[in-house]
Amino acid sequence: SLPVGNVQELASNKELNGVPDRYVRPELAFDAVRVDDSLKIPVIDLSRLNDDQKFAHDELMKLHHACEDWGFFQLINHGVGEDVIEKMKDDTKEFFKLPLEKKKTYSQLPNSLEGYGQALVVSEDQKLDWADMLFILPQPFNDRNMRFWPTHPPSFRESLDQYSAEIQKIALVLFGLLAKNLGLEPEKLTDHFKYGPQGVRMNYYPPCPQADKVLGISPHSDANGLTLLLQVNEVQGLQIRKNGIWVPVEPIPGALIVNIGDVIEIMSNGRYKSIEHRVVVNQKEERLSIAAFHSQKSDIDIGPIPDLVKENDLNYITVTFEEFKRQVITNKLDGKSLVDHMKIKNV
Ligand code: SIN
Ligand code: FE2
Repeated sequence: SLPVGNVQELASNKELNGVPDRYVRPELAFDAVRVDDSLKIPVIDLSRLNDDQKFAHDELMKLHHACEDWGFFQLINHGVGEDVIEKMKDDTKEFFKLPLEKKKTYSQLPNSLEGYGQALVVSEDQKLDWADMLFILPQPFNDRNMRFWPTHPPSFRESLDQYSAEIQKIALVLFGLLAKNLGLEPEKLTDHFKYGPQGVRMNYYPPCPQADKVLGISPHSDANGLTLLLQVNEVQGLQIRKNGIWVPVEPIPGALIVNIGDVIEIMSNGRYKSIEHRVVVNQKEERLSIAAFHSQKSDIDIGPIPDLVKENDLNYITVTFEEFKRQVITNKLDGKSLVDHMKIKNV
């Protein structure tokens, strides 16, 4: 991968006359989409999903359709403590407020994503994203690399530790419910993800003088199993591709935004969809968000679960974990190129 400049530094340059070419996307179309109810991503109430509740069945059906039709939903009443969320938000904001030199003590190492820096870039002509990030792998616990865990603000490590654990718990509950909805034993999914890695990506999008010419994150689908996203401040920016148009997501305060990743699309043989999304930025205000990615453990092949494949209906090839990882690393963020690569063209 190639080195990329710090965006916060670039954005703070008052002499800056317009945005450097590498960030400008002339083809960018910001269709003004009015989000009426038909374009609001489904809202799932986790507290209704306990087996002994009379609403559980309806809510499970809602979840099933959200995964089939949207690949995205907002999760409310998820049970993650408000204090845990607030501490995580506060400490993320405080981290990005640190002087650049201080943040850079947590810089990424070459060809690696963990640490403070930017998304990996694989070619000279690839457009750059208007964002900096701090990416940390909090799970599995024994593999933590503490050199990337900030000690400022002082509570940061504890906040991330707690947030990571609670979010992974919710993710596992969701994997179990997804399996159930697919007609599988919950363990068919939870066993793959229980001891799998969790990556937490804290995103910082500085204001941009030409906000309508850049993207905070290029269109992509997530390569993992499930992503749980927390919007940190009130500035919106996430958009999902629905029927060919980019639809803004309006987060409900306190909700987690959940999306299906490529691995679940593939394992479900295409029943559940990993949806393309992107991030737009704001001209006046910074935006912050925290995405937690949950992946399968490393000793399994990635392909459709046999129970979900009907005769003559195999939609994806199966690859080894190593091969999948190689694809993820060498793929630039480019729509759904990763899953497309594994799709079997039905003749
Ligand atoms: C993403 O991680 O793809 C979206 C993050 C965000 O909404 O900022
Ligand atoms: Fe994403």
